[in-house]
Order: sequence, then structure tokens, then C-alpha cells
Amino acid sequence: MSICELDKQYVSNTYNRFPVTIVSGKGSVVYDEAGKEYIDLGSGIGVTAFGVADELWQKAVTEQIGKVQHMSNLYYTEPCAKLAKTLCERTGMKKVFFCNSGAESNECLIKAARKYGFEKRGADCYEVVTLVNSFHGRTITTLAATGQDVFHEQFKPLTAGFRHIAANDIAAIGTIDPKKTCAVLFECVQGEGGVNALDREFVLTLDAFCKKNDVLLCVDEVQTGNGRSGALYAYMNFGIEPDLVSTAKGLAGGLPIGATLFGAKTENIFAYSDHGSTFGGNPVSCAAALSVIDRIDDKLLAEVREKSEYVFKTLTGAKGVESVSGMGLMIGIKTEKPAKELVAKLIEDGILCLTAKDKLRLLPALNIPFETLKKAVDRIKAACAE
Ligand SMILES: Cc1ncc(COP(=O)(O)O)c(C=O)c1O
Repeated sequence: MSICELDKQYVSNTYNRFPVTIVSGKGSVVYDEAGKEYIDLGSGIGVTAFGVADELWQKAVTEQIGKVQHMSNLYYTEPCAKLAKTLCERTGMKKVFFCNSGAESNECLIKAARKYGFEKRGADCYEVVTLVNSFHGRTITTLAATGQDVFHEQFKPLTAGFRHIAANDIAAIGTIDPKKTCAVLFECVQGEGGVNALDREFVLTLDAFCKKNDVLLCVDEVQTGNGRSGALYAYMNFGIEPDLVSTAKGLAGGLPIGATLFGAKTENIFAYSDHGSTFGGNPVSCAAALSVIDRIDDKLLAEVREKSEYVFKTLTGAKGVESVSGMGLMIGIKTEKPAKELVAKLIEDGILCLTAKDKLRLLPALNIPFETLKKAVDRIKAACAE
């Protein structure tokens, strides 16, 4: 049986895979079983921040594997403590809880927000307001937080206590009732929702409302975080200071990790046994993440913004392209042709892209070489124009 046949028979039917089996790669280039080369513009959905088999990343991971691959949270380990310190120093946040995925980082964030509401305003203050078209994960609670009905069908009843307001609707902010709402949670750029950045005025109004009414301002940086937006975290582009931040995906450059960051208001909200995770703070994932975060410096972020500008300039107004959206190297391209058709055509041309709603979505490695990016964008441009 081929890998494809084995997978179809034995792996649960949740993924609609393309007929490509990736076996190896280097940086932003990956190879299939037949040795065909592809430029990878998806980076495992924004995970392999420095591409595939990056040497510095490998060194950080293998050195840690040679020391200790896992230790329970009954003991201290160096990578976990150092990563928490680095994240706090780079963001101004105060404490970190580590877990294994984006959904889990949001579960932790929601639990923390509910406990804050309970302590501040009592048992009725548990509502979390999120945005229509958001995506926060696939657990029953993070599905409830997700403002897209399409994900809800057949899984009800979802966790109670979530309400969705329209993104960029400033008037809707006034409907938030601080007596029952403990937190507002949003993505600065809605990724799965179609790569749409929030309006600056909306974010700043929400920030002011939350500060004034002691509602926690919470940002989901699972997809936008760790350099993807051209800042270390996308909220930094808006000049706001959130109370809680969730992140995952690119943080450890390709190993499972999630992190919830707590600000000054929330740093002591959790006490012993309020939350936990067997694998959370895993030393190998944390060593990988330390190496990733240390490399996301001003120079790299400037390069991310420069590459982003290049893609926006090259594709905006190109034949067959209706619009280009997003921020940094998180880019959505609305095309005249159906995005899914284009992705299939681009696979033939040796380019791996993603989709988000009805758009092509690009999430290349942050260090994709300019020449590689140019080659890929030229092929996308040609495919849109055909
Ligand atoms: C903004 C956002 N939040 C949460 C998640 C869920 O992350 P995970 O798949 O790691 O659970 C995703 C995944 O795409 C995401 O884009």
C-alpha cells in the first residue's frame, strides 16, 4: 500500500489532504516521494518559523534531547523557566502558562478570564465576548468561542457563556455589559476567517472600553504571533497592552507548544492546582521555542515587513487578483478563480499554498529567502492571470 492509501485507510477522516507525500526538505523547499521540489508557502500552517530542518533549530532540539526529553511539572527545568523569562521580557507580560496547542492556550486563557470575573464581580460575570468570523480552536469550549456557525453544527451543546459581536463594529462595543462580561477575546488579523486585519480604531476603542470597565482585553496570537505579523506579537502593531495573550503555532518552530501570557492584572489569578498539563513546558519544545524567539529580532522583523510589502505590491492589481489582505507574512489573496482550484494548480507548478475562506493564504517561513519568495510569487501571479 502507498502512504496515501495507508493514511486513507487508517487515519481518521478529518483532513482533506492533497495527493502529495512530503518526505524531506530544507528551509522553504520540500520534496515529495518522487523527489519533486516544492516551495513551501504554508510552513505547516504558520508553524515552521525558520523552515524545515533548520540547522540552528535542530541544534537546540537535539542538544536538549541529549539531556532530558521530558520531566513532570513536579520539578523545575531550565528551558521552561528561561522561555517564560524571555517571553515576559520581550512582551512586558508577567507570567506564562505552557501547554501544547493553540486551542489549549485559549482554554487556559478562558479559565483565567472566568476566574478573574468570579473574583472581581461574582459568579454571574463569566461571559467572554469574541468576534464574528473568529477562530479560536476545536475543543468544545474554543469552538464556542469561535464566531463561525459552520464549525458549530452537530457538536452542540457547546460551552455556554460566549457572545459574538461583529468585527470592526464600534457601536457593538457599547453592548458589552461589564457586570456579566469578564473578557473580550480577538485575533488582530482573523486568520482562518479570511486573513482580515482588524481596523485600528476598533481595536483602540475596545482597548479603552476594557480598561475603563475592568473587562480583560485578551488577544489570540496563535496564528499572528511569534514574528508572523512583522512585530513579535501582532497586538504590538496597535500599541495596546493586553491582559491575557494566547500563542502557539510558530512558537517552537515545529514542535507542539502553546503558551498563555498573563499581564499585571492577571498574573496571580491562578493558584496551585487551578490548571495543569502533563506535557506543558516540555523541555524540548521550550528549548526549540527559546531558539526561535531569540532569532526574532529587529532585523528579522524588518525583513518580514519588507517581504510582505513585496508580495502586496506585486499582487495588488495583478490580473485575476481582486484584493490582497493581511499583515506581515500572513497574507490573503482574493482571486477571480476559486482559491481551491488555484492551490491544486500551484501544487502542479511546485508551490504549496493554503486557503482561508475563499482566499489563497500565504504563511511562508519568516526567513524565506527573497529569491525563493519572488519565484513563488511570480508563479502565483501567472496562475491567477491564466
Ligand atoms: C487564531 C487561532 N487560534 C487558535 C487556533 C487553534 O490552534 P491549534 O490547532 O494549535 O489548537 C488556531 C489554529 O488555526 C488559530 O488560527
